Amino acid sequence: MKTTLAIHGGPKTRPTAFPSRKRHGERDKQLLNEVIDSDVIFYWLGSKVFEFQRSFAKLYGRKHALACSSGTAAVHIALGALALPAGSEVITSSITDMGSLTGVLYQGLVPVFADVDPGTLNMSAESVRSRITPRTSAILVVHHAGLAADMDEMLALGREFSIPVIEDCAQAYLCGYKGRLAGTMSEIATFSLNHFKHIECGSGGIVATSDDRIRYRASLFLDKCYQREEGIRDPFFLAPNYQITELQGAVALAQLEKLEAIINSRNALGTRLSNRLAGVPGIIPQTVPSGCRHTYFLYLFRLDLKRLECSAREFSQALQAEGIPNADHLITGGRPVYLYDIFQNRSAFPGTEYPFSPDRYYRRGDCPAAEKAFEEWITMNIYENYSEADIDDIAAAVAKVAEWYSNRAAVTVPAGSAASSVEGQV
Ligand SMILES: Cc1ncc(COP(=O)(O)O)c(C=O)c1O
Repeated sequence: MKTTLAIHGGPKTRPTAFPSRKRHGERDKQLLNEVIDSDVIFYWLGSKVFEFQRSFAKLYGRKHALACSSGTAAVHIALGALALPAGSEVITSSITDMGSLTGVLYQGLVPVFADVDPGTLNMSAESVRSRITPRTSAILVVHHAGLAADMDEMLALGREFSIPVIEDCAQAYLCGYKGRLAGTMSEIATFSLNHFKHIECGSGGIVATSDDRIRYRASLFLDKCYQREEGIRDPFFLAPNYQITELQGAVALAQLEKLEAIINSRNALGTRLSNRLAGVPGIIPQTVPSGCRHTYFLYLFRLDLKRLECSAREFSQALQAEGIPNADHLITGGRPVYLYDIFQNRSAFPGTEYPFSPDRYYRRGDCPAAEKAFEEWITMNIYENYSEADIDDIAAAVAKVAEWYSNRAAVTVPAGSAASSVEGQV
């Protein structure tokens, strides 16, 4: 007889809360104090942001890194630095954060959405190829959830069509791809330092490039096109103020010192969980292509709904009741981004359909694999401070829920129990 699910009144697999993360400490305080003692919080006159930029560029083996106010700003800066022509099209993933799209729209560019690979949920190179037109000006690759996208193919497309590739690495710090790091393979890469990321400073972003010309334009784009390096104030293109402060720079610097340990731990824990789940009927761990090092910004697995008699929502709720926080809506809130109102109603700017093309609409069915993903995938956070025992509890709970739903017919439920009433609704 199977163990009754907690959602049906059975024992919880994980009765205690998972350990909370302690993200900031003495080192952050020390560096913050240095900023306050210096009496300079403006990045241009301070030292912490510049020190962070040098350390980040060194870690990534890139010539330049520039810090800015958010990951959204970083993507906008990258697009601005590449001087993509307004009205041209940028191909990106149908499963990403709105922060990948904001700068696209502000630059007067038209977003085009590629479908995802059903095993990894990263944007598929085949789908990107099918979206390329003479109007395509760039490919914005999103390394989703901490797993690198198929960069060999993306870069080959960039070369074939002579268009730049940008990497959005907001979720993909130190993420490995065939011996290289995500964020080192394209013309320019972007990162986020928001609260939810592997490292954070409240809000912040980074762009990284080895191209001097791109760096120069990026440095202007984040700062009103003031040519501070030359001491000239004569803006020659439209640029926002996306400055980061010394306070954020200090915290980011302290965080960077911990990044490798965070990534090593997440990778080990995520790999352990996938190994535990590998043999569980009805559960398909996310595919990690050979040569990729997953950094588990999120842990994802897919439900084999041919083997389970439940929806992803029911599975998610049952797992939650077992004491395992999780979600069934991926990072977008339950639908591919092109189904957001802003794309459906073409309502980026009031009173106009700008910058959307008159001949490009966003319709249900555009990206079938992405749309299906929302029926099948469960996501959860596994944090670097979790123990192996924590991971084993997660695995046990997933196995318990999967076993229940794959074997419900064989389960004897006492008449009139809470289990039988919930059972009837499934
Ligand atoms: C893939 C991706 N791109 C861009 C962003 C935007 O970053 P931020 O929230 O720092 O603006 C995020 C944030 O979640 C993201 O996940």
